[in-house]
Amino acid sequence: MATFPYPPTDQGHGEVSWTDSQSTEIDGMIARYPQKRAAVMPVLWLAQDHFGWLSLDVIRLVAKTLELPPSHVLSVATFYTMFKKQPTGTHLLQVCHTLSCDLAGAEGLISRIENKLGIKVGETTADGKFSLQRVECLAACGSGPMMQVGTDYYELLKDDAAVDAVLDALASDNPPSLPRPEMDQWTYSRKS
Ligand code: FES
Repeated sequence: MATFPYPPTDQGHGEVSWTDSQSTEIDGMIARYPQKRAAVMPVLWLAQDHFGWLSLDVIRLVAKTLELPPSHVLSVATFYTMFKKQPTGTHLLQVCHTLSCDLAGAEGLISRIENKLGIKVGETTADGKFSLQRVECLAACGSGPMMQVGTDYYELLKDDAAVDAVLDALASDNPPSLPRPEMDQWTYSRKS
């Protein structure tokens, strides 16, 4: 099991650069804003999609691209939990533990995940499939307890059976369809 040290002990990717098509895409992002610096979040998102996580090498590349101090880009990346500052397992389980979810049973959800996967918060399973993090409010307060996995939300995880169904499906590389028809519940997926 690996923990999530910060700054990461693995400083990352070495020399990194954009492909031609990524450079074109970034130019399009920059063109949407009156100032180059305003594109920092979409460019970080593109970088994470491509490099897997935001090492200091990647942060420096984004900074150079947008003509910003690396410290500014790092401050944005470290503010948002959607940006990975260290390598994670294939499925990053980000469980909201803020008030509404806490009252709805977030600690039970975290315990169930820890017991089923044999890891604690901040760790990754030995097979590299799952990492677990606590995060603050993900704006699904009416349907807690909930977690974000990659770009998908899994909501109303109120009992072990619901949690197990999601974890088993993810482990078998056959994630539940979204929105989950059994829940009669709006569920968000960025890619849907
Ligand atoms: S409190 Fe959990 S999503 Fe808002």
